[in-house]
Amino acid sequence: MRTSFISAVLASQIITSYAAPHPIEVIQNIDWEKELLGRSDDGLEKRARSEKSIDAVFKSIGKQYFGTCADQNRLSGTNADVLLADFGQVTPENSGKWDTTEPQQGKFNFQGLDALVNWAQSNNKLVRGHTTLWYSQLPSWVSAINNKATLTSVIQTHVSTEIGRYAGKVLQWDVVNEIFNEDGTLRNSVFHNVLGEDFVSIAFAAAKKADPKAKLYINDYNTVEKGSTYAKTTGMITYVKKWIAAGVPIDGIGAQAHLQSGESKNVPASLKELCAIVSECAMTEVDIVNAAASEYVTTIKSCADIANCVGVTVWGIRDPDSWRASSNPLLFDSNYNTKPAYSALIQTLGSYSTAKATTTASATGSATGNSTLSATATPTQSK
Ligand code: XIL
Repeated sequence: MRTSFISAVLASQIITSYAAPHPIEVIQNIDWEKELLGRSDDGLEKRARSEKSIDAVFKSIGKQYFGTCADQNRLSGTNADVLLADFGQVTPENSGKWDTTEPQQGKFNFQGLDALVNWAQSNNKLVRGHTTLWYSQLPSWVSAINNKATLTSVIQTHVSTEIGRYAGKVLQWDVVNEIFNEDGTLRNSVFHNVLGEDFVSIAFAAAKKADPKAKLYINDYNTVEKGSTYAKTTGMITYVKKWIAAGVPIDGIGAQAHLQSGESKNVPASLKELCAIVSECAMTEVDIVNAAASEYVTTIKSCADIANCVGVTVWGIRDPDSWRASSNPLLFDSNYNTKPAYSALIQTLGSYSTAKATTTASATGSATGNSTLSATATPTQSK
């Protein structure tokens, strides 16, 4: 009796003092070239394709991941095979949004997001968290709040519960999503209408407290599509600079990049301006109407060419599963065959010179502060 009590106490101390590695450390210890470029058991042969893994190629030029959105319904069959072989990060397409995670006040539902995060952990994939505050897919009980103190506390509870649940398991969080109008002002939403711009600092402070190691992002669309002088792009830059100067813990800007055809030419210059004012940046939801190879190359290359652009996420694997399915905007067709844009990306990025890749890699490493990622996730997060 006594012995087992003591060993139970000792075991619990060992468990609580064990510091699990941060997500980025786990994947840094893997030989991705061996893992993805050369292996024969990755399902690629089932599709009779010869292209390399875009994730492995992206990592080989110094980036952290090439990812896609997913959810529980995409984690089986051929979709899972392709996900495993070609992508290094998953972003919950819908399971992380407020209408799913807290449909009624205080009644949380993390079933779908747990499934995705657990799958990612078991398969050495990174996770981008998406998203805690968004005007859309927001339950009506939140939109009905008209009192500052109530809304502040509701935001704090929502953000700390969701982000805290996955602390140490998520690389980046879109803390706020789509908060700007096209003219660069702040969008009407319950958050802005009740709290003014303070909702941003309230949300980021709660996020930082809930997971101090996660990179905290502000995410939006039409910020790289229209050119670097577009009012939404310059407006975002003005606000983010001001908030960072005021101590709001914003680490990164996410450019969704849901492109119309013909817009890719605007991406490189706009992305450069956005990335210049934050410690890191990413393209977070890329899809391009008709998926012209040249447009994909211009768009993805713009991240590849910016040292602190840490990764790209495309918004789905195959066309019929896209939220814009009728415009065939993704890298795989309905049979999971790679489209010309995929092959063109492999060719362009695969032939980056070693010198360039090395420069990008070291600059990215310092810009993202990987050396500070040595701590800590408690392995005992509640489920
Ligand atoms: C989309 C999903 O892909 C759809 O399944 C859903 O019906 C609506 O939302 N910007 C975002 C994403 O930040 O969350 C959106 O995802 C696409 C636009």
